[in-house]
Amino acid sequence: MAASSSSSSSIKPIFTTRSKSSNSSKSSLLSFLHNTNPKPISLKFSSHNSNYTTPPSFTIRNSLQTALETSELPVSKFQDDLNLQAVTPKPTILVSEKLGEAGLAILRSFGNVECLYDLSPEALCEKISQCDALIVRSGTKVTRSVFEAANGKLKVVGRAGVGIDNVDLQAATEFGCLVVNAPIANTVAAAEHGIALLASMARNVSQADASIKAGKWLRSKYVGVSLVGKTLAVMGFGKVGSEVARRAKGLGMNVIAHDPYAPADKARAVGVELVSFDQALATADFISLHMPLNPTTSKIFNDETFAKMKKGVRIVNVARGGVIDEEALVRALDSGVVAQAALDVFTEEPPAKDSKLVQHENVTVTPHLGASTKEAQEGVAIEIAEAVVGALRGELSATAINAPMVPSELRSLAGWLCSWYPEGVALSL
Ligand SMILES: NC(=O)c1ccc[n+]([C@@H]2O[C@H](COP(=O)([O-])OP(=O)(O)OC[C@H]3O[C@@H](n4cnc5c(N)ncnc54)[C@H](O)[C@@H]3O)[C@@H](O)[C@H]2O)c1
Repeated sequence: MAASSSSSSSIKPIFTTRSKSSNSSKSSLLSFLHNTNPKPISLKFSSHNSNYTTPPSFTIRNSLQTALETSELPVSKFQDDLNLQAVTPKPTILVSEKLGEAGLAILRSFGNVECLYDLSPEALCEKISQCDALIVRSGTKVTRSVFEAANGKLKVVGRAGVGIDNVDLQAATEFGCLVVNAPIANTVAAAEHGIALLASMARNVSQADASIKAGKWLRSKYVGVSLVGKTLAVMGFGKVGSEVARRAKGLGMNVIAHDPYAPADKARAVGVELVSFDQALATADFISLHMPLNPTTSKIFNDETFAKMKKGVRIVNVARGGVIDEEALVRALDSGVVAQAALDVFTEEPPAKDSKLVQHENVTVTPHLGASTKEAQEGVAIEIAEAVVGALRGELSATAINAPMVPSELRSLAGWLCSWYPEGVALSL
């Protein structure tokens, strides 16, 4: 038995044992674990007719060491038909939506990358059991069924962007799967799109453009409103909201913000006053939405809250469609409480072709373009690729959204330890 440096295309054995001597097998493996530079390891375990390869991780390394050091089980379990290898297989990374080339290059340098776009939910569930990581944008629904179908193999879901409302976080956590996102790279792009919608809505740019292309010249119909001196309420003073606030100040707007969790000094530094939800609604000429979609914010803009707004208010939404009750918004537009709306996001995407909201003449729409600049796409691709590779390496992730209750490695570890010790293995976490 000896440490081995031989390699194959996908598996690089760093330790192999086929010893007939149980004591030497166990002690050599322990000395191997003690003396090699610590790095995540996988274990390929072959016994009788079964083969099993665990995912690479420090947990496995540490758990194996502890199991060997503390086991009081007969050493005979380590001999004869045991073929134990420490291996570093390349992880498989499934990319289910388009990702920038710079990000793909980072992923390819680390693992086997499969780009399969437009998978049906069934096809995703079928594929996922072969994947260590999955990278999505906002179009792939990563449901509980996906985590169930992964069978413990899936260790990381990377969301190329910010909103993680398309990932079932509860299920991910239960199944020991880490979820990471890319929160930084598209912030400026989303803020710029918010400002673009704000200005084009105020000056009827999209309506005027459509009318002139239809052969009309309607100068008096499309008289707009000015931004300077108007009050803008930024709802959600996080990364995007604060960048929108900064830019709106530059346009000469009076900016207030509502965010139950934002520190007042952060707002003060940008020259923005933090106000209550009702105060924001009652004061604002323009309202720009930048909060996450969650159970608290779902349909937070509804008949009741539209009624609290200043008549003739104009609303921009580049956050998530679900924060607005869309039928209530149509009613508010029809009654004139809301003069105009500019929407980049919808409850259902794409929205129905005959959606009253989308077709409303006072509504400007874009197809979820907030993060769609060349610079942001490349930046997000790099950010998420680095986060996923780091997570697969077992590093602490700065953009982790959850803390898995049971690491998937331990679930796997339990599987192969049980095959060694049919009497049963207790793992305490
Ligand atoms: N349209 C796009 O393509 C696009 C691009 C980027 C981000 N987004 C969306 O924009 C939103 C903001 O993104 P971000 O990166 O700024 O997130 P963020 O987490 O940095 O900021 C969100 C802020 O909302 C605040 N908040 C939470 N609950 C609130 C509530 N009930 N009322 C008011 N504020 C509340 C939080 O405290 C936080 O400061 C998210 O919904 C995100 O999904 C959309």
